[in-house]
Amino acid sequence: MYFPVYRPRRFRRSENLRRMVRETRLSVDQLVYPLFVMPGKDVKNEVPSMPGVFQFSVDRLMKEMREVKELNIPGVLLFGLPEFKDEIGSQAHADDAPVQVAIREIKEKFPEMVVITDVCLCEYTSHGHCGLLQGEEVHNDSTLEVLAEVALSHARAGADVVAPSDMMDGRVAAIRDALDENGFDQTAIIAYSAKYCSGFYGPFREAADSAPQFGDRRAYQMDPCNAEEGLREVSLDIEEGADMVMVKPALPYLDIIRRIKDEFDRPVAAYNVSGEYAMVKAAALNGWIDEQRVMMEVLTSISRAGADLILTYFAKDAARLIQNR
Ligand code: PBG
Repeated sequence: MYFPVYRPRRFRRSENLRRMVRETRLSVDQLVYPLFVMPGKDVKNEVPSMPGVFQFSVDRLMKEMREVKELNIPGVLLFGLPEFKDEIGSQAHADDAPVQVAIREIKEKFPEMVVITDVCLCEYTSHGHCGLLQGEEVHNDSTLEVLAEVALSHARAGADVVAPSDMMDGRVAAIRDALDENGFDQTAIIAYSAKYCSGFYGPFREAADSAPQFGDRRAYQMDPCNAEEGLREVSLDIEEGADMVMVKPALPYLDIIRRIKDEFDRPVAAYNVSGEYAMVKAAALNGWIDEQRVMMEVLTSISRAGADLILTYFAKDAARLIQNR
């Protein structure tokens, strides 16, 4: 009869033994909470496909911010819905649009909060695409000029970080140039570098009213089959001046997160997107899974894969659990 000399079970026998050998420790420091800002007053609408996630007018957003701050979450990611949409997404860089107003209010009331803004046009264009159209195609280089304007308007309002999510070629360089030329050399860029054309964005498009009115985003977002191309996108964004790079979605692309972490010298963010959140919520509401347990397992896996920062709609719930641990 053979008996093993090394027995891995020895360090699994009690919680304190397990604590000692734990390799991944999810921290509140890693969490960013995404928020949707609406026009109007006293608005707090729950997003049907994202229970627990709301669209807020700026006044109601400030109450939410108090909670985010009390939970010690270091940063938020802002998305905006405009008063009106047009072909060229002009409200995306309006100084008095909901996101720009929200940035100023947050920085006034919660100056230490890191404010990250999503830089894209899909919430602001009548056609729902992430850039300017030429015929039925999104035209790259004319879009770059508008994206730079958007990033600049966020920086002027006081954003600490801008996060371009449009997937146009050359947008990080265009934004870095515009920021630097206007004295915003301290405004950081988190690039959505490996952003895949994903079915997991469905609930977000309901929250941000940003579904394309025709066609899809395959001509600019990445093919889910490609890993090498994701690394190429990352190296381009780093050359162009990205301070941090992002993988999106997170769970179906843990391999990409790990490879970027191993091969590049920049912090890596991962976006645990709306569909990943909705799946867990829906199964939990049906009583099919234990929500808290699955949530922590999901977030831990993203961290274990190599993500330094996790953008997640679970940020508040996870922060509460981590603090009571
Ligand atoms: C804007 C943008 C999207 C998301 C973040 N920024 C949607 C899209 O590309 O269609 C998705 C976030 C989520 O699903 O939670 N381009």
